Amino acid sequence: MKAARCWAVVPAAGAGRRMGGSLPKQFLPLRSRTVLAWALEPLLRCPRVAGVVLAVPPGDDRWRDAVGEPAGLLTVEGGSERCDSVLAGLEALAGRSAAEDWVLVHDAARPCLSTGELASLLDSLWNEAVGGLLALPLTDTLKRSDASGRVAETLPRSGLWRALTPQMFRYAALREALRVAAADGDPPTDEAAAMERAGHRPRLVAGRPENLKITGPADLALAEAVLAAREMPACA
Ligand code: CTP
Ligand code: MG
Repeated sequence: MKAARCWAVVPAAGAGRRMGGSLPKQFLPLRSRTVLAWALEPLLRCPRVAGVVLAVPPGDDRWRDAVGEPAGLLTVEGGSERCDSVLAGLEALAGRSAAEDWVLVHDAARPCLSTGELASLLDSLWNEAVGGLLALPLTDTLKRSDASGRVAETLPRSGLWRALTPQMFRYAALREALRVAAADGDPPTDEAAAMERAGHRPRLVAGRPENLKITGPADLALAEAVLAAREMPACA
């Protein structure tokens, strides 16, 4: 059997409604580049990634200014839900990707994925059957609110994780799970959820808190600080 290869799909077709503004958040400037360019960089630089597919907003060319000049980037039009955009990226790989090849799905809105975190995900999952995702165990105490904004209950946080990206699954199994999920009227918010619905049990790999998702304006300032800290010379 041929050794598995690894591909990446980056969904960048969202409108960024929670951020507001006219330019979708993935195209915003961030530390001399853009959010999208930072999100793509570790995937494009990783020698274990054979190719990267970018799902872009239909009829909107602004991604061209946001990506810079990445060699070997394939683009495809995204869809109305995140899972539609990821599925479009996977369909674009048909004929290139083997059924058992790996696919990394990474949000265009996550500009602070480090190469070490990516390597840890690949190393942890490469010999797994199904795959999994970067995730962070919850550290805060969890409260559920009632309608008046008061605490209704305190929830146990043990065993709870926040799902990050990249998420890493076998090509054919992920495509099948997303085809079913995209058709069933209740779109999953990540690939792992689609795989879970298909009966799989994705593995959780500990990621880093710096791998944040840009959702609102405050996240841009945080990402800026994370990237700036990486450029600082290490302490002697
Ligand atoms: N995404 C996509 N296609 C969609 C919706 C989202 O490719 N139809 C992408 C976004 O561009 C982003 C990632 O999925 O990179 C994560 O989604 P999210 O953070 O929810 O981004 P948006 O949907 O753009 O933001 P919002 O929910 O605030 O509108
Ligand atoms: Mg969204």
